[in-house]
Amino acid sequence: MHAAEIRARFLDFFASKGHTVVRSSPLIPGNDPTLLFTNAGMVQFKDVFTGRDARPYTRAVSVQRCVRAGGKHNDLENVGYTARHHTFFEMLGNFSFGDYFKREAIHYAWELLTDVYRLPPEKLWVTVYHEDDEAYAIWQQQIGVPATRIVRIGDHKGARYSSDNFWQMAETGPCGPCSEIFYDHGPHVPGGPPGSPDADGDRYIEIWNLVFMQYNRSADGALTPLPKPCVDTGMGLERIAAVLQHVQSSYDIDLFQALIRAATRATGMTAAPPRKPLEHFSVRLPLARARRQYGDRCGRSRSPSRSDGGDPAAIPNTQNGEATQGKPMKNALETALKVIADHIRACAFLITDGVIPSNEGRGYVLRRIIRRAIRHGYQLGCKTPFFHALVVDLAREMGSAYPELAAAQRRTTDILHQEEARFFETIASGMAMLEAELSSIAPRVHARSDMVSPLLSGELAFKLHDTYGFPLDLTADICRARGVGVHEAAFNAAMARQKERARSAGKFNPEQGKIEYRGGKTAFTGYESLRADASKIVALYAEGEAVERLYAGQRGVVVLDTTPFYAESGGQVGDQGMLSARDARFAVTGTFKIQANAAGHHGTLEYGELSVGDAVRAEVEQARRARTMRNHSATHLMHHALREVLGAHVQQKGSRVDADKTRFDFSHSAPLNRAQIQRVEALVNAEILRNAPTKARTMPYDEAIRSGAVALFGEKYGDSVRVLDIGFSRELCGGTHVARTGDIGLFRIVSESGVAAGIRRIEAVTGEAALRHVQMLETQLLAAAGALKTMPEALCARIEQLQQQLKTLEKERTQWQAAQAARQRDALAAQVVEIGGVQVLAAQVDNADARALRAAVDALKDQLKHAVVVLASVHDGKVNLIGGVTSPCNQTIHAGELVNFVAQRIGGKGGGRADLAQAGGTQPAQLSSALHTVKAWVENQLNLTERYSPAK
Ligand code: SER
Repeated sequence: MHAAEIRARFLDFFASKGHTVVRSSPLIPGNDPTLLFTNAGMVQFKDVFTGRDARPYTRAVSVQRCVRAGGKHNDLENVGYTARHHTFFEMLGNFSFGDYFKREAIHYAWELLTDVYRLPPEKLWVTVYHEDDEAYAIWQQQIGVPATRIVRIGDHKGARYSSDNFWQMAETGPCGPCSEIFYDHGPHVPGGPPGSPDADGDRYIEIWNLVFMQYNRSADGALTPLPKPCVDTGMGLERIAAVLQHVQSSYDIDLFQALIRAATRATGMTAAPPRKPLEHFSVRLPLARARRQYGDRCGRSRSPSRSDGGDPAAIPNTQNGEATQGKPMKNALETALKVIADHIRACAFLITDGVIPSNEGRGYVLRRIIRRAIRHGYQLGCKTPFFHALVVDLAREMGSAYPELAAAQRRTTDILHQEEARFFETIASGMAMLEAELSSIAPRVHARSDMVSPLLSGELAFKLHDTYGFPLDLTADICRARGVGVHEAAFNAAMARQKERARSAGKFNPEQGKIEYRGGKTAFTGYESLRADASKIVALYAEGEAVERLYAGQRGVVVLDTTPFYAESGGQVGDQGMLSARDARFAVTGTFKIQANAAGHHGTLEYGELSVGDAVRAEVEQARRARTMRNHSATHLMHHALREVLGAHVQQKGSRVDADKTRFDFSHSAPLNRAQIQRVEALVNAEILRNAPTKARTMPYDEAIRSGAVALFGEKYGDSVRVLDIGFSRELCGGTHVARTGDIGLFRIVSESGVAAGIRRIEAVTGEAALRHVQMLETQLLAAAGALKTMPEALCARIEQLQQQLKTLEKERTQWQAAQAARQRDALAAQVVEIGGVQVLAAQVDNADARALRAAVDALKDQLKHAVVVLASVHDGKVNLIGGVTSPCNQTIHAGELVNFVAQRIGGKGGGRADLAQAGGTQPAQLSSALHTVKAWVENQLNLTERYSPAK
């Protein structure tokens, strides 16, 4: 039965049972940040299960395209190594939203498998969640599956709901116990029944999962019951097709035939195009032909000793990661072709659904899958892009089931080609480096007897990642085939270091440096106008590489023949805005010089396509540009004002002007005082009020300098320069400026600080930002006055008055504390006893921490002269103990020994000097009796043993 028929029968069967046929949703889940890709049929119904969304039906059936790569369900690592794992697959599923539950779900599944697909019942096994007696009983009593073929599956390590038979889409979302149906491929295939130690083999294959959705898992891990119990089932089309087509591997089904054949062709493993129509083409044929071809190529033209990684003979059998004897070449080839055939499906569908290869998120998963496919092709000898050529075969194979795939064919091919071209530039060097390292590690593998796999250095893995574009999992995959692991912790550390370097490098734009533009100059029209209606695209770049076309979703750089966009320079930021064509829109997030006279518009193509040669309308975001211009013109006025207020030594040392503010660094040795700041503000604002028109002229440099224009020291100028007259300032400047000084509105300095020896920095704002700043200060002033119940004008006097009150209170408090301490000391002094001429005090004090205790001990030592003092306090169930002995008594009585003696009686220990020591204890209840022993201990020390003997 062909895959197309399996799909159709599935949909028909459930439609006949009252299910609404629902189309596959895209691979990017709508509005679901918890999920990388659609990984099951239930994803588009997630909100229906939880009750947040309602549909006009309560029963649905679908064939859903799914990707399981990255995220909670990730099969990427297994692809090519098992008979049943895929990154992309189709899931047949039926769903009940609070309609039927376990009984019908199980009956429907059984009826479809045995009556419609006509599978022999004795080949089917089932599992249930170990607590699910209800499902067990339905299988055994209603369906009649013998108990020997029903397996209860428990939880992992006893954690409830951690079982393989408890399904959840992601860390959060709908979930529930499930019951799975397995097909026994027969004793000739290795593997054991579900739940047995050999369950991972390929003999018993799970074909259908019936999930009894009952709970919603929230971010804190709590499970709450769904409003109504639901059903979500999923059957992998490729697996059921393998069963129904009597093949053991899902790579041998009809759907994969053409793809494996196409991969064989595209990698040059066979020159012959398929001669037979698909229906008559044996599933084994492409591989068999490729093997013949492959053997020839290796024998004829390749030296097995080559170590550039391009030699297929060098690839060992990668099954289970072990190099095995037998037919390594055959296995490596099979693996490579399977991986390529699998990956073209995932990649083409992801691109169709709007994912673009990139360095983060979904785009990075896509990039990793593409690079894996390329690496396998490379190891089969491909040295130029081949992978994109499979899109046409895929579209032929699956385009009728998924018309969107066929519609996007050209775009998908192009994007894959761009990505391939990029990786092929570096893969050879990267593989050579990795190969060299692996061959030095490999001999050690065999020399070792303890079987601990050796590790590739994390630094090397990072270098491969950073310089040659090898994602970590690609490197790990290549190493795995050699029984070598990767030192991931060191890789991550190197990655973190690089991120830190990039962060501290600040605003460096990584895309900027890479572009190699050799075209003509960009004509800049942005002094006069913010819009150009027909600019021509002269070059396009995606991730630094020249491309002919950009597609929706792609980030890139557009170069135009004419642009009103100002490219960042002279401290002024580049413009933002929009480039639009009839059916395309490119959002410009920044404009940078890619060469002295050429501007690159950086941004993202929001929709449509743009090709080199297209005409676009270029529109600068007006409000942002206007704010930037105000700040820039104000900077010129401020520069002049600073020279007037501080002196002609003031020179510009750096500036950054954007839409929010101007930041101006200049030479001056001392902080500006308030009066100077206000004077600068007044001068600038006076020029603004004068509202003089700005004049820009181009003239020879020498003439400009003679006319008094300020040039920046160390800056390179051409022979002919642009001279800007703005109010009282005259400077050489290429930036964009207001038409009249009055356009600036209002100028305010918001901060003044030092950045280096002799360099000060002023930050200032203009226009609405200046107004906002003034209003913010006023709001705070009013709030402060309100809090102190006075008017803003009286605020300072009120604060002074309060400070005075505070001072008085502080003084009174100190006096009161001193009196209190004296009272406490007197109370303690009353407890002093005299022993042999020494004043002894052992007492408990309330509310004192170790510092207060120590101060009290010191004070008592001063007061009592010949004294032994032990003070204790209890805080949070712990005892603090400080002991002090005056000199010369401390020659006979050691404070450290004393506190240690006491501490031992309260579950602690301590020690210290002869005059002062500290200890702690944990048994406050014993404190009182412990303190009582002090007297006797002192007596003992003083040798008054006739009244005290430790033996008594
Ligand atoms: N959601 C379940 C699975 O993916 C059943 O569809 O296995």
